[in-house]
Amino acid sequence: MNSIPQSVVALTGAGISAESGISTFRAADGLWENHPVVEVATPEGFDCNPPLVYEFYNQRRRQLLSDEIKPNPAHTALAKFEHEFNGSFLLVTQNVDNLHERAGSQNLLHMHGELLKMRCLNSEMVYDLRQDLNLDSECKCCRSPGNLRPHIVWFGEMPFHMNEINTALEACDIFIAIGTSGNVYPASGFYQKARIRKATTVELNLEATDSSFDEHIYGPASKVVPAYFEQLLRPSS
Ligand code: OAD
Repeated sequence: MNSIPQSVVALTGAGISAESGISTFRAADGLWENHPVVEVATPEGFDCNPPLVYEFYNQRRRQLLSDEIKPNPAHTALAKFEHEFNGSFLLVTQNVDNLHERAGSQNLLHMHGELLKMRCLNSEMVYDLRQDLNLDSECKCCRSPGNLRPHIVWFGEMPFHMNEINTALEACDIFIAIGTSGNVYPASGFYQKARIRKATTVELNLEATDSSFDEHIYGPASKVVPAYFEQLLRPSS
């Protein structure tokens, strides 16, 4: 696209946080290699062995809160774009980390939930969370232990914010997928939904995926994301 777009939707996946030190899911040494998905990322897994599931997310949360994990230039570039862009911009992330917020993004939807939140199984109330969660953790609303779960969308559950996301996809004139393998529905189908209204679709990834976008740009997110979004703001520069 050579002109400045009016409406942009970007979708991020684990690849954008890889250079910040957070493992992706499907790499050879990725999270799903060492932790069976059915055991740690399904409602059935949680029913069967809650301590295992709590510990899986406790480890992820502890890592996220450690000093080593920081936003990288790709997160910063998206926040800068949101700040400087005159049109409408929605950032949708599949990531459960808080690196987009820490970089300064505001119009952001976490479709797969957030590591730093927990949810009451009875009331569905959502609370901030920075500590470990376990069977003894007492819920703030029911005051009983064992009623809390990580505020994460597990396989078989409906992602969050789908109405808002679909509305933005149907109205956008450019859709950009960043650092996602396109293995998980419905996010994997967003580029096709955006195309219905003839949006240009772009993939920024370290390597080729199976999805066929109009444009593919390959390289590490910390390099390709700042360069891509800068030329979107200033096409002639
Ligand atoms: P994946 O692990 O499936 O894919 C990560 C993608 O990032 C791959 O396509 C890599 O090529 C790419 N990548 C890796 N390093 C990169 C870098 N430095 N720069 C750019 N790209 C890079 O992760 P997701 O697609 O995010 O869901 O996975 C989608 C969902 O599957 C996750 O949200 C999670 C998981 O199951 C839930 O847990 C509900």
